[in-house]
Amino acid sequence: MSENQMNVNWYPGHMTKARRMMQENMVLIDLVIEVLDARIPMSSRNPDIDELAKNKSRIVLLNKSDLADPKANQKWMKYFESQGAHALEINAKTGAGVKGIRGLVEKACKEKIERDRKRGIVNRPIRAMVVGIPNVGKSTFINAFAGKACTKTGNKPGVTKGKQWIRMGKSLELLDTPGILWPKFEDRTVGIHLAFIGSVNDEILVLEELATSLLGTIRDRYPGLLEKRYEISEEGSENMLLERIAESRKCYAKGEVLDLKKAAGILIDDFRNGRIGRMTLED
Ligand code: G4P
Repeated sequence: MSENQMNVNWYPGHMTKARRMMQENMVLIDLVIEVLDARIPMSSRNPDIDELAKNKSRIVLLNKSDLADPKANQKWMKYFESQGAHALEINAKTGAGVKGIRGLVEKACKEKIERDRKRGIVNRPIRAMVVGIPNVGKSTFINAFAGKACTKTGNKPGVTKGKQWIRMGKSLELLDTPGILWPKFEDRTVGIHLAFIGSVNDEILVLEELATSLLGTIRDRYPGLLEKRYEISEEGSENMLLERIAESRKCYAKGEVLDLKKAAGILIDDFRNGRIGRMTLED
């Protein structure tokens, strides 16, 4: 994948705007809740967040944990904790794990709450913002976390277009619009991994190339899964694997000619929906 292909959704003006909004909102909050895709915790992360959110309490959510390798989820949580962040694996779609966040907020903001108390400030709610690159599940998470029970505070909708705080009990307020981070394009692996999970517009990608690359990755990291899903041998080149999937899934263009594009589409779709198995692509 070329630089151009990656950057198509992220021209500099777009990034500058995202960064400015993030900086503006950062001033208002105590806690940053960073949402990552558990399948690619590194590539779905923007290292600039450390600079942007310095001095803020931090929570890292490994979202889409249902699609990722459970063992890898555990390892990644340990990793983030070793970096001083509080981490949790969740499935924003079903809400699994989301209940654990309240406890984590208290842990992450313990010092701040103490500081407030010493200064005689009691019951000032923690203000939090959800951040992450596109498609990691930020909106799904806000819905799952805030749910229907929440009440919006701040400006009245329709009157001013200001920020909306979602009040979640006495102790927490959440900014209703997530902060959008941009991926780290300079790194080629990041681009490829984002394309695997569907965060790059498929129309600009050559599906067969993406598929063969994905086949190599899956075979290396999770030998046996392709064999099981498609009843094919995992020996030989990645192109051969794609051909075997086309045969096994009866993808033919005309007569006996294999339709590799169709096979590629099936593979990628299966991967994105977790049908090949739960996988994490980064250690
Ligand atoms: P964003 O705000 O960060 O851009 O992401 P958004 O919430 O729109 O979620 C992007 C996609 O990821 C959505 O799928 C959403 O349903 C899915 N998703 C979010 N969290 C999880 C999770 O924990 N597990 C799984 N398996 N999927 C998750 P979509 O294809 O856009 O819509 P749909 O498939 O829900 O209809």
